[in-house]
Amino acid sequence: MKKSKKLVNNQVSFQGLENKTIVLGISGGIAAYKCLDLISSLRGMGANVHCVLSHNAHEFVTPLSLSTISRNKVHTNNFEIKDSWQPEHIELAKLADLILIAPATADIIAKLAHGICDDLLTTFVLASKAKVLIAPAMNPNMYDHPATKHNLSILEHKLRYQIIAPEFGEMACGDIGYGKMAQISSIAQIVASRLEVHGSLFEKKILITAGGTREPIDPVRFIGNRSSGKMGIAMADAAYARGADVTLVSTVKVERSYPVILVETAQEMQESVESEFDTCDALIMTAAVADFRPLFVSVHKIKKSDSEDFTLDLTQNPDIIDLLGRVKRENQIIIGFAAESEELLSNASQKLKRKKLDLIIANDITVPEIGFGSDDNAVIILSNDGNKETLPRMPKRAIAEHICDILASRFLEIKELTLH
Ligand code: PMT
Repeated sequence: MKKSKKLVNNQVSFQGLENKTIVLGISGGIAAYKCLDLISSLRGMGANVHCVLSHNAHEFVTPLSLSTISRNKVHTNNFEIKDSWQPEHIELAKLADLILIAPATADIIAKLAHGICDDLLTTFVLASKAKVLIAPAMNPNMYDHPATKHNLSILEHKLRYQIIAPEFGEMACGDIGYGKMAQISSIAQIVASRLEVHGSLFEKKILITAGGTREPIDPVRFIGNRSSGKMGIAMADAAYARGADVTLVSTVKVERSYPVILVETAQEMQESVESEFDTCDALIMTAAVADFRPLFVSVHKIKKSDSEDFTLDLTQNPDIIDLLGRVKRENQIIIGFAAESEELLSNASQKLKRKKLDLIIANDITVPEIGFGSDDNAVIILSNDGNKETLPRMPKRAIAEHICDILASRFLEIKELTLH
């Protein structure tokens, strides 16, 4: 499938569902109100969304709001007279690349499990050969009921429908337990992965570093660098939007839905990265890590002395990516960045080899419009298979999207290798 990206609020976002039609079946539960966000998410990823409402769903969400958000007519009635001669349930069945029932109540789950076709929603699902995803949402006791469990098992094991497990939490009725519909972002990413969309990083654990480390000299001063963290944060946002399980180790404080571990020094960054590395599928180090730190950190502010000169003894910091490059598993991917002020290509390719990286993203930090602190970057991507790709100046998020595309292809290659 063609790779594509769209500019939203001046940011490039992942559009993996372009040319895909998703028919969203909405049954009558309180979680139906979340469908509006779900439709927006799927449309944001490029999908064409058609909604089919069960009779009871009308009580929770209106056809008017659904048609406005989906920008398509909403389907509710099996027996409506319309322009096309084809029965509506057959037309919908053929239209769908994928059917998503969200929320799926105990009632619709029971009907689908037993082939009952008493409305448009149940009839078109039975008439379709498309993949079906079911996102249950109901009271915890109803979800736990043996009848529901049995019906879900029929859907999953006999009909090969994919069940998107509900989450634990407080229900609209006040009860606490499993039954809350899965998060919209998770549902959207499961849809992308089920359609085997190119570029999806669904369920990949990706560890990213951002910002510049600060190495204290005394309680007031430190050795630092000009990294703002923008490149690393753009990288983490892009991977997260593609369904990755992202952890960001950052020297810059940011509020995000994924875990952000705040660190200051190279040694703190090393500790956090090492503790997450074993379970990650990819490590992307955009952080500018200080190569040296003061040998001694003064407890008190260093006073000006009579002498004109002041000497600070430095000691080497661990090279985090280098150490991890030596112990990485075959199926782990390590991507480094190279900040260069001269000999961009040769310096970067030496680092790629020396540090045993899969990719290195080289940027020239002497150009003010790109690199440190700016919203844009221009890079050369060198790969351990000898490939070289030049990306001209563009937003850091667009660079990050490109790196995500390469990463997704690498994961596919690893998967194919392990299958053979
Ligand atoms: O944060 P921004 O303002 O958006 O700027 C982005 C950036 C310029 C910082 C970024 O694009 C970039 O180039 N990051 C890498 C900076 C750097 O430290 O490059 P390096 O060539 O010194 O290091 C090469 C690689 O080794 C890097 O992936 C680095 O994270 C890693 N390294 C370096 C030293 C060290 N002690 N440990 C490391 O792991």
